[in-house]
Amino acid sequence: MSTRRDFLAQLSAFGLALSGIPRFPILVRPRFVADPFSLGIASGDPTADGVVLWSRLAPDPLNGGGMGADAINVRWEIATDEAMKSIVKRGTTVARPDLGHSIHVEVDGLRPSAWYWYRFDVGGDASPVGRTRTAPAANATPDRYRFAFASCQHYEAGLFTAYEHLAAEDVELVAHLGDYTYESATNPEAQNVIRRHQAWEPVTLEQYRNRYALYKSDRMLQAAHAAFPWMVTWDDHEVENNYVSEFPQDSTEKPGFLVRRAAAYQAYYEHQPLRKASIPKGPDMLLYRTLNAGRLARFHVLDTRQYRSNQACGDGIKPPCPEWSDPNRVVLGDTQERWLTRGVEQSQSRWNVLAQQISFSRIPNPNQPTFHPMDPWSGYPAARDRLLAWMAGRQDKNMVVLTGDIHSSFVMNVTRDALQPESQTIATEFIGTSISSGGDGSDRWAQLANYETTVPNMKWHSARRGYVRCELTPDRWTTDYRIVPYIRRPGAPVETVATFAVQRGRPGAERA
Ligand SMILES: [Fe+2]
Repeated sequence: MSTRRDFLAQLSAFGLALSGIPRFPILVRPRFVADPFSLGIASGDPTADGVVLWSRLAPDPLNGGGMGADAINVRWEIATDEAMKSIVKRGTTVARPDLGHSIHVEVDGLRPSAWYWYRFDVGGDASPVGRTRTAPAANATPDRYRFAFASCQHYEAGLFTAYEHLAAEDVELVAHLGDYTYESATNPEAQNVIRRHQAWEPVTLEQYRNRYALYKSDRMLQAAHAAFPWMVTWDDHEVENNYVSEFPQDSTEKPGFLVRRAAAYQAYYEHQPLRKASIPKGPDMLLYRTLNAGRLARFHVLDTRQYRSNQACGDGIKPPCPEWSDPNRVVLGDTQERWLTRGVEQSQSRWNVLAQQISFSRIPNPNQPTFHPMDPWSGYPAARDRLLAWMAGRQDKNMVVLTGDIHSSFVMNVTRDALQPESQTIATEFIGTSISSGGDGSDRWAQLANYETTVPNMKWHSARRGYVRCELTPDRWTTDYRIVPYIRRPGAPVETVATFAVQRGRPGAERA
């Protein structure tokens, strides 16, 4: 921003007190030495009549953004055509320095189930045009609704080729189930990386912003954001590997960890198309929420990190210690658990989708049958049993669990007793693989070489990269696993390698 000085004289003239937030001078006509929209644009959390439009002004993205301390006036407009000729709404918003000059515009008054195009303009610099879509009308049951979900996009591990293909899909929404960024510092000795993180692990707000900027600079990720509204939730790596609540991975870091968490949460808000309800308050941020696709589907977007009891038995994968079965240990926390059960019970939708992070079903290792991973739901048997008991009595709600985290695809029948895979199937879980984490991957995990005969409720598994596409109709749910064979070099094609269906009223997946 070479012209910042030029505008200092104007600042007081444009001062504006925003309700309940600090007062900033506002620049109306800034000029930039580089593209202020280097991080792309996005939209998210569609309702039947509105959507959130997002960007963040960052002409110097990897060095704090390059925006200085001034607030900036940004114009936005939304149209019914890609050429932006038929504008249906426009307005201005303020990109505030204390929120990293991020832009979150909550547009309303739009038509349901409709495509829209949008862009921003700041001082004559126009953003790219993005496309978005509103949700179906509240009382409508569409014949068909398609969405996709993805997770786990380690920047160093591979290219985001999957997003290049996802951007061309015929879907109305993309759900991201966490690990949008990874916090590790690059290891200069590591040979297996195809591109590099910065040399530090983020701890401060500016470092987290710079890490998001690195990820957001990826053109394939930008293309997928520009093509559809997204519905995001986080996992651990947006803050730190395997943190939960106020507990960092390494407990010696505990004093001060909530300060780090506050920085990470704020950077997450700043870089995602979220509503005002998610503006962080210190180390707390409300991320669990409901989105509806008419009466066809209700998405219960969960936060399995912020309110959870610490991992038992020192974390890891091991036989249980007494702490493991402590009935007081929680995953969602009481408030979120009550919100979820009430939200499902009140739902009039054909499908109730639990969009979350960590494996809900037990993924056993037949070579180590007494071992349990302590980080996913398997580490919280009492909390999982409580939900399973409730789900067993609510099978009319057609619950489908969507999961990320483990960098592999699994189709699981959710059984009444998680440790008894031949017990009654009461729901269905689709675990999506990573976009890039884990590199090219493999056909299957070595310990699951014979899963077809050793794990009765595991219907399918693959350890390749990609994303998942789902098509919902009132009576049938169809899931396509869209897989790319490699990501460590560009140009991989995408292929549907498995398709599974769930019939309404009949939990469990069948190959389709
Ligand atoms: Fe991950």
